[in-house]
Amino acid sequence: MLTVMKLRGREVLDSRGRPTVEVEVAGSNGEVGRAIVPSGASTGRHEAIELRDPENRRYGGMGVLRAVAHVNGEMAAAIQGMDLEDQAGIDAALVALDGTPNKGRLGANAVLGISLAVAHTAAAARGVPLYVHLNRLWRSRLEPGEFADPVMPMPMVNMISGGLHAGANLDFQDFLMIPVGAPSYAEALEMTTAVYRAVGAVLREKDMEGALVGDEGGYGPKLATNAQAVDLILEAVLACGLEPGRDVAIAIDVAASHFYRPETATYHLTAAGDDVLDSAGMTALLAHWAKLYPIVSIEDGLAEDDWNGWSNLTGMLGDSVQLIGDDLFATQTARLRQGVERRAGNAILIKVNQVGTLSETFDALLLARRHGYRTIVSARSGETEDTTIADLAVATAAGQIKIGSVARSERLAKYNRLLRIEEDLGPSAKFAGREALSIKLI
Ligand code: PGA
Ligand code: ZN
Repeated sequence: MLTVMKLRGREVLDSRGRPTVEVEVAGSNGEVGRAIVPSGASTGRHEAIELRDPENRRYGGMGVLRAVAHVNGEMAAAIQGMDLEDQAGIDAALVALDGTPNKGRLGANAVLGISLAVAHTAAAARGVPLYVHLNRLWRSRLEPGEFADPVMPMPMVNMISGGLHAGANLDFQDFLMIPVGAPSYAEALEMTTAVYRAVGAVLREKDMEGALVGDEGGYGPKLATNAQAVDLILEAVLACGLEPGRDVAIAIDVAASHFYRPETATYHLTAAGDDVLDSAGMTALLAHWAKLYPIVSIEDGLAEDDWNGWSNLTGMLGDSVQLIGDDLFATQTARLRQGVERRAGNAILIKVNQVGTLSETFDALLLARRHGYRTIVSARSGETEDTTIADLAVATAAGQIKIGSVARSERLAKYNRLLRIEEDLGPSAKFAGREALSIKLI
């Protein structure tokens, strides 16, 4: 049996220059695997707890030395000697050791770092790529007859950034494109970079180009309205000789929790003057957008605890638009189960650090799939060179992936990893394509 020999945690920096946890796990045959934990900016209330050191002035209180000390101390002691390939057992031991419902004692960042690094080490120890190892783990969770093969995901790519990710005035967080007409992942990526460059050209032409891009690499211009961001992307799509709706579809991440006020149950939009909407008003606005534009996917269109609003929105748009719960579900099966019962949303964003272990991430993916919810594996706004989520998306046939824009190396590392996986799969590589959205497209 291959066992966990040694753990080493350390503090490294993410794409915003903030500390995060890196873990190395050495297996009994000498192989070492490594993972680095991502970090969000628009974090939801229901996410697992990221442990930082606010009492310590280093890095403005954002240090993760306590989490690292937990990795090197009691967590290492607890899992040393365990079966390296028993991912479920190791994850369960970590969850039990933490002992809180949200991983707040040891830190979800400490837990996730170990959980992911263990998978990397097990893959290395068996001499297989990570996606192959993850696919083995995934298959072992499936019932006979359930689809089990690896599938290249359809990317959903950030073009223009607003909200908490960019400095300008837009209320909505991401304005994205989905290259629905592409026949393979590699061609999807090529089409995407063409549109990204064209968006830059359109902004330059209109003297709107912000000098900077947002945290996820999208352009961060100051615009007159939120809708103008969609108009600009559509203009760029046309400039590339592509057809909106047929070749390229539009997606938005509203990240509505961040302009929602629970005291008054109202949504406060400020991009084009002050606009205060109740849940029905916000839903009507989204329905209007979905009619006006080739929008096939809306993420966090309403706030994370506006369950009734979500049910209404889903009743109204759920047959024609992918409605993704990010802050709403926080990759937690308990929240997704509520969503299924209330018919809230029809898709779930999967972020490994919202839940904190690989096994619980599989739980969420599996529950979603079995209830017909689409799944989108997602990066965070704070990322690193770690590419685990690329392998995860392929291994679990999640169908879609959201990494940010095609700029900034912490994003490209994952897009490039997917190119390598596609090559490794060879001519038999299946691409999720537009069916991943299972929505009627023009
Ligand atoms: P976050 O943003 O990582 O800052 O939460 C990503 C998203 O909202 O999808
Ligand atoms: Zn989101």
